[in-house]
Amino acid sequence: MNELSVNHLLGIKHLTQADIQLIFETADHFKEVINRPIKKVPSLRDITIANLFFENSTRTRLSFELAEKRLSADVINFSAASSSVKKGETLIDTVNNILSMKVDMVVMRHPNPGAGVFLSQHINASIINAGDGAHEHPTQALLDCYSIRERLGSVSGKKVVIVGDILHSRVALSNIFALQLLGAKVKVCGPKTLVPKYIEKIGVEVESNLKAALEWCDVANMLRIQNERMDISYFPSTREYTQQYGVNRVLLDSLKKEIVIMHPGPINRGVEITSDVADSKQSIILEQVQNGVAIRMAVIYLLASKIKVHES
Ligand code: CP
Repeated sequence: MNELSVNHLLGIKHLTQADIQLIFETADHFKEVINRPIKKVPSLRDITIANLFFENSTRTRLSFELAEKRLSADVINFSAASSSVKKGETLIDTVNNILSMKVDMVVMRHPNPGAGVFLSQHINASIINAGDGAHEHPTQALLDCYSIRERLGSVSGKKVVIVGDILHSRVALSNIFALQLLGAKVKVCGPKTLVPKYIEKIGVEVESNLKAALEWCDVANMLRIQNERMDISYFPSTREYTQQYGVNRVLLDSLKKEIVIMHPGPINRGVEITSDVADSKQSIILEQVQNGVAIRMAVIYLLASKIKVHES
């Protein structure tokens, strides 16, 4: 069946393994397209997409916009910081006003967990969650798994450790769901205060020693400390955090094998990862960003094929 099981992409937890395989196969095709001299296809000439960003973003916002333009969709961009949200307009009023301009699809980043689900229950458009608070970031997990598949041949059977601030990370939760769905084994590693209490209940082991975690894994996904989501201190100091949970060249060279290093960005160089590691051949950080465009083209294309285009 060449169709997604969902009408919105709200979280990985709503997807099936077949959905992810279909997204990957479609992304394979678009990756070939964006490496051509003419990087554009006319597939979505009749679709209008609104990118609504209520939180800061570099990679996700630009990657969605580029993906939409590569598919020939019409694109409008909305940033909460310069909008009438600042005058007290609600989320539903904001989106309904945008939809009345005959918009077919909404890509939304929002600081509140569940904002995409809430919107999907109140408006008549296809919704893509581009990150909702500390909840899910589904396209990031898809591009991460796609990049592992590209570097290691498959995701199934691979051992992946997610390191750092798991508690505040939407990337961690979406990655855990996607990796498990595709047959990978997942561990997390970080300060006890930054590992959610439910983590073992969703089939994820905790390894508190970074070297042991790196010896175990094929892939280490290094996460940023999300200071903007913290109102208390979760560890004594940044220096001590780096000593215990930062990867550096000496640590990687002390392992018995070469592992793949990932990071969703933005990187705090010298905190969770040193520059010589981030910029090394073991790192696939820029491949992740590059694959983000093909993955988002695939998601948009597959969801657009399920929506009824507005009559003009
Ligand atoms: N990985 C990621 O979501 O980055 P941005 O916050 O820059 O979009």
